[in-house]
Amino acid sequence: MNTTEVRIVEVGARDGLQNEKTLLPADVKIALIDRLSSTGLKTIEATSFVSPKWVPQLADAAEVFRGIRKVPGVSYPVLVPNEQGYQRARDVGATEIAVFTAASEAFNQKNIHASIDESIERFIPVLERAKADGVKVRGYVSTVLGCPYQGDVPVGDVVRVARRLYELGCYEVSLGDTIGVGTPAKARAMLHAVAQELPISALAVHFHDTYGQALANILACLDEGVRVVDSSVSGTGGCPYAKGATGNVASEDVVYMLHGMGVHTGIDLDLLIATGAWLAAQLHKETASRVTKARTAV
Ligand code: HMG
Ligand code: MG
Repeated sequence: MNTTEVRIVEVGARDGLQNEKTLLPADVKIALIDRLSSTGLKTIEATSFVSPKWVPQLADAAEVFRGIRKVPGVSYPVLVPNEQGYQRARDVGATEIAVFTAASEAFNQKNIHASIDESIERFIPVLERAKADGVKVRGYVSTVLGCPYQGDVPVGDVVRVARRLYELGCYEVSLGDTIGVGTPAKARAMLHAVAQELPISALAVHFHDTYGQALANILACLDEGVRVVDSSVSGTGGCPYAKGATGNVASEDVVYMLHGMGVHTGIDLDLLIATGAWLAAQLHKETASRVTKARTAV
């Protein structure tokens, strides 16, 4: 791989915490994001303005977003499913949002009660308002390497949905292996297919580590040319619609691998490990990061 730099998109405060059984109070979430801001991360997904009935873990999104220290040069995107979410995000001053849909119809119905096309229809006014307001929009495509209901997901469906999000104005499209079933050759082939239609510089990869394949998948995708990787400190999270699905690959493990390869992330690994260990203690669980386990073993 011939690169010197990779950007990590830290999704622990959103993707991680939305799936944790332990409900953290807003001040702990704020402390988490503030700690992450001091590690050198440049993109920290802060929270989610979805329906609190569906994701009670992040019902305090407004309080959290208002409370965090906004470090200059760091972006704090928030998840938005519809116009109502967009308004809530703008009311507290969000300047970057993320919209989400899936490559699998069955998954979308369970997750957001809409078909793929319906979910995209919902985004159109959000994207129009974002453009007018100068708000940056990231897009997620879920279930790119498998669906808990449908099983295999044709690569053509991933390409179609990713292309649509890009055409609608998403500056970056994150390809999500939501349930962590992918393996390196499949991951690479999927990315290659999407990169035939979208610039690779507009793509990110988002792996959950259910089957322990996430680092191998990331490496395969770095070889294919991707330079943006989503991960979650301490590997927190899961997926309510996929039994046994774990959180995102741990940020500490991705950063350790990249630094070991001589790739710069701008992140202080020691500070990230300290944050991961602190978060695991707040959640009363063992960290899912192998690096943090190794470095904090007594
Ligand atoms: P709905 O329930 O299907 O229908 O919501 P609705 O639009 O008619 O709304 C029903 C109620 O929700 C109404 O309230 C609305 O006002 C309220 P009521 O009249 O019953 O009192 N509502 C809202 N409240 C606050 N904020 C909003 C909002 N919208 C509606 N934005 C909806 C559809 C999409 C909103 C809902 O299904 C939802 O919020 N789902 C959450 C799904 C979610 O967050 N999933 C996890 C994120 S995706 C993910 O994690 C994957 C990713 O990490 C990538 C990967 O791993 O692949 C990104
Ligand atoms: Mg995810």
